[in-house]
Amino acid sequence: MARKRIIAGNWKMNMTPSQAAELCATLKDLVVNDNVDVVYCVPAIDIVPVAQAVKDTNVQVGAQNLYIEDKGAYTGEISAPMLVDAGVKYVIIGHSERREYFGETDEFLNKKVKKAFEAGLTPILCCGESLELRERNAYIDWIRLQIRADLDGITADQVKKRVIAYEPIWAIGTGKTATADQAQEVCKIIRDTIAEMYDDATAQEVRIQYGGSMNAGNAAELLSKPDIDGGLIGGASLKPDFGQIVNA
Ligand code: 13P
Repeated sequence: MARKRIIAGNWKMNMTPSQAAELCATLKDLVVNDNVDVVYCVPAIDIVPVAQAVKDTNVQVGAQNLYIEDKGAYTGEISAPMLVDAGVKYVIIGHSERREYFGETDEFLNKKVKKAFEAGLTPILCCGESLELRERNAYIDWIRLQIRADLDGITADQVKKRVIAYEPIWAIGTGKTATADQAQEVCKIIRDTIAEMYDDATAQEVRIQYGGSMNAGNAAELLSKPDIDGGLIGGASLKPDFGQIVNA
């Protein structure tokens, strides 16, 4: 089965609402490609203006986080029903920056994944190893553990719909991209782990992205690999280069 490619921009904590609308206008004609799902994962405050700006285009809106309850006394948090009502389709869960700076554990992330599915959102689940784990050659075990923990209790039908992003921490924002072979090796390990947990047919449907200093220059080679179905792009998603990645 051919998996549709998915190129998502992770804007991180960048773009005020007015800058966000301008960026959508700049990218509008550059990201047109019916063979690719294009997603902008934007700061919460930008969701409404971006949803408005990409209306009637091929671009879908994603969030960067959600909370595990639907409503109530959780000051500062945003719930899945709020995201859905605002037009959000995807949500990044478990980015290494949230794991590192906000102490999010696999157990907590697993609850977020379940909440996303319950609300009808597609999670983009991130995993990835530190430089230290890579240099110790412990990254394969680490990735397997992350995938198993974050997918605990998720059904095969849900897993098929989700997106998984492999983002080696040492490649994020560093300009140091994993080679296409390094990225392919881990994306295949992720797929094999899902085949072990579920079955091969399920694993073949899951879309797996690479993320980490992906740009207009290296995207085509990364995307040529059999288990890399797309990209999760940080810095380059804020520039016209993003259009080149979509069309790479
Ligand atoms: P960069 O593309 O800036 O390295 O960021 C990758 C990333 O963290 C996407 O989620």
